[in-house]
Amino acid sequence: MTDADVLVVHGGTPLEGEIRLRGAKNLVPKAMVAALLGSGPSRLRNVPEIRDVRVVRGLLQLHGVTVENGDEPGELVLDPTRVESANVADIDAHAGSSRIPILFCGPLLHRLGHAFIPGLGGCDIGGRPIDFHFDVLRKFGATIDKRADGQYLEAPQRLRGCKIQLPYPSVGSTEQVLLTAVLAEGVTELSNAAVEPEIEDLICVLQKMGAMISMDTDRTIRITGVDRLDGYTHRAIPDRLEAASWASAALATEGDIYVHGAQQRSMMTFLNTYRRVGGAFEIDDEGIRFWHPGGPLDAIALETDVHPGFQTDWQQPLVVALTQASGLSIVHETVYESRLGFTSALNQMGAHIQLYRECLGGSACRFGQRNFLHSAVVSGPTKLQGADLVIPDLRGGFSYLIAALAAQGTSRVHGISLINRGYENFLAKLQGLGAHIELPERAPGREPAREPVSEPA
Ligand code: EPZ
Repeated sequence: MTDADVLVVHGGTPLEGEIRLRGAKNLVPKAMVAALLGSGPSRLRNVPEIRDVRVVRGLLQLHGVTVENGDEPGELVLDPTRVESANVADIDAHAGSSRIPILFCGPLLHRLGHAFIPGLGGCDIGGRPIDFHFDVLRKFGATIDKRADGQYLEAPQRLRGCKIQLPYPSVGSTEQVLLTAVLAEGVTELSNAAVEPEIEDLICVLQKMGAMISMDTDRTIRITGVDRLDGYTHRAIPDRLEAASWASAALATEGDIYVHGAQQRSMMTFLNTYRRVGGAFEIDDEGIRFWHPGGPLDAIALETDVHPGFQTDWQQPLVVALTQASGLSIVHETVYESRLGFTSALNQMGAHIQLYRECLGGSACRFGQRNFLHSAVVSGPTKLQGADLVIPDLRGGFSYLIAALAAQGTSRVHGISLINRGYENFLAKLQGLGAHIELPERAPGREPAREPVSEPA
């Protein structure tokens, strides 16, 4: 790691002040890909300056889409009029550690009749297979040739709508179906779909383009393919995952943070859980204030799940707050098989977290009999001491920032440029909240991203 990737954090100071959210990291790049499907330009607002957006911007430009900054801050104008093939080496170089390239398949098969997908990245929180994606694309009529450098896809004729039952309500696979079915011939019926707020917002984008999409009460989504889609103008929903990260930071540091843009509707399960732990929040029309009301925090039993359950991306930041709660908290991570590995570093700081292979505290899940340490018991409260920390993944990395801020003493957090993938201007936000941090001489996220040489898979 270069020094630019190391942040020195002096802990023990409550975070106090306010931050402003931008559009959701898990919606904006997908809405950008959706612009490929339009016969005219699209305008996307509330776009955050994060690495995942920069990766998709580069990939779209590689394929002949112009992506310009709009009139207002955070606005992009995407013009897909001249979509063209890109060469494999360039696609590979741009894909970086993102998972989004897999969502280019449907739109490129419709526009060009072929697509190339390089090896994908994404946070190292589990196997991150893409078998559902390829099963779905074959059902639409695509052929897939797996080679050493990636997957080569062809659409011998116009893709056709089909009936799909997902083995698990996978967000990415649901997005794959949506982005492919809208221009396929005939009707597509998707059962056991993901229905996260980001999925709903992507459906809003596609409906604005002219797509015919309905969502039933039983997680079934029906899409009637059309021959042509227009561009869209859309303001992305705010990032409920970032909002929860700052809320957890307020709790763990005994602070008080107002999160501009946070919306109750997409955070109801998080808010209930926050209140169960003993956190306080106040909702107004512009955002949500989160604070530690004083006194002990309460240990809880927590199980992650698909929406409207407790979002897996809320889990890691909240676990740091649970190290400060009195008693034994139980965490059952049911979405990813390896999303509790970050807790070993918390134990080095003084936390008492034990991992188990069993499904603890809730119903049996997919990982119960498969030897994955996917349940945790957190005993608190424990005093955290500063330490040297190496960031493992996006949300685990933010959790380490929270732990270092909550700890006594000084921590050195290595690999902080990874946090840039999903948290816009996080260093400036931390400083604005009174965090005692020493910025690296070339703080990531300030200048055009200098992509780190390699990131965790
Ligand atoms: C999206 O990942 C998000 N990423 C993740 O956020 C989020 O945690 C996840 O959805 C669940 O909500 C983006 O939107 C960029 P999945 P995705 O397909 O689409 C299994 C963050 O920190 N699966 O819903 O990759 C998979 O192994 C990131 O913001 C298959 O088995 O998630 C996992 O167990 C982390 N085969 C489960 O489904 C497949 O083909 C959920 O994965 C696809 C998925």
